[in-house]
Amino acid sequence: MTATVRAEQTAVFPRFLDHAYPNIERGDGVWLFTTDGRKILDACSGGAMVTCLGHGVREVIEAAASQANQIAYYYNHHFTNRPQEQLAERLVTVVAPEMARVKFTSGGSEANETAIRLARAYHVERGQPQRWRVISPAQAYHGSTFGTLALSGRRRSLQQPYESYLPAYFHLAPATPRLDPTGERALAELDDIVAKVDPDSISAFFCEPVSAAALPAYSPPKRFWDGLQERATRYGFLVCFDEIVSGMGRVGSWLAAHELPIEPDIVTIGKGLGAGYAPLAAVLCRAHVLDAIAGGSREFDLGHTWDGAPLPCAVGLAVLDVLTERRLVDRVRERGPRLLDELRAALKGSSIVGEVRGRGFLLGVELVDPRDGRSFLPDELDAASLVDDIAFDLGLLVSSTHSTPDGYAGDEVLLAPAYTSTDAELAQMVERFAATIASLERMVLHEVGRQPVGTVHRP
Ligand SMILES: Cc1ncc(COP(=O)(O)O)c(C=O)c1O
Repeated sequence: MTATVRAEQTAVFPRFLDHAYPNIERGDGVWLFTTDGRKILDACSGGAMVTCLGHGVREVIEAAASQANQIAYYYNHHFTNRPQEQLAERLVTVVAPEMARVKFTSGGSEANETAIRLARAYHVERGQPQRWRVISPAQAYHGSTFGTLALSGRRRSLQQPYESYLPAYFHLAPATPRLDPTGERALAELDDIVAKVDPDSISAFFCEPVSAAALPAYSPPKRFWDGLQERATRYGFLVCFDEIVSGMGRVGSWLAAHELPIEPDIVTIGKGLGAGYAPLAAVLCRAHVLDAIAGGSREFDLGHTWDGAPLPCAVGLAVLDVLTERRLVDRVRERGPRLLDELRAALKGSSIVGEVRGRGFLLGVELVDPRDGRSFLPDELDAASLVDDIAFDLGLLVSSTHSTPDGYAGDEVLLAPAYTSTDAELAQMVERFAATIASLERMVLHEVGRQPVGTVHRP
């Protein structure tokens, strides 16, 4: 097989038909090796903020092999199994003691979809079947199923041409420093929505407590969380947190929720839970959510084939062991602020860098138009793709998002190193990323020239 694979050379249905996909053969720690011998520094935990322990972790591989040897799969409609039971127990004792129960899924979209249904079931069981509406901030990513895609609030960049299939949820503009630094505007929008619809029709507010790909490392100001908690209590809707990325230590605490002045009723986790060794995610809920079902129909009958299967749960247990034994969440909490300082220092003076954000080992860089240092870069440039390509040429894996057409954010770059990255590796990531941005800056300055903001078209 060739070192890069193009659409016309493969039976795979690729995501982007014009992209030549490098062929990765193996991984070791934060290094990826291509079939033609290139060595790529992985600053994004496998590209999707997943491999929080790095690649090739023996303890996890051995746990997976041993479980597969014993029994890999059976359906949890009929049975339960030790790894599922133990992992659930560990999650509600070590990771989230405030939570009462855990329901496993294979991926983040499934977990979020399950959370939407659990919130709805909670109200139905309590005799409030009229509650179904979900409100969420725009400029998010919650998954690619219809239910979760509807939550993202990104009509142009994500939802077209599937809008007809999507439930009509309400969205608030995100309370970013650019749009709404105090969070008051988002709360006023929330109040407007509540005033427009019957407050008794609202089931849940659904959001990322710390955003991942769509607005990396962004979290609304405290005022917003206080106001949301107060309204959730007043109107009786649930708060659901999507911690598919931010959970499992990524931001320096087991859950991002633990750092915020609000108590979500339902939380989803994923990515770092299986750490890339098995597809694994979970929905956690507080006791009152379980109690509603327990005191009602006593069924929450929803399941996917792989939910709670022995193999992924054994992997989750091994991942949790490594995280706790090596005190990796502490490391992320202690090392994260310095990593942010180092990144800021390396990017200082760049005319295309706006805000540089960081929470633990989740970092985000906002790209801006050098002509005013504030506007989004021209849509046509698709700077996000340029960043990823330049970085790759410099031997670095980062992940960027281009959601300019929706108007809430421009090009954003995400770095999410493995928690096990050494200081030397983190320094190399920062150095290679600064070189990437310097190269992009030259390109952008050449493209935008002296034309006024908003007039550039890429040839
Ligand atoms: C915050 C967030 N939620 C949900 C998802 C969806 O997860 P999955 O791709 O496993 O369905 C993602 C995926 O990137 C995500 O970043």
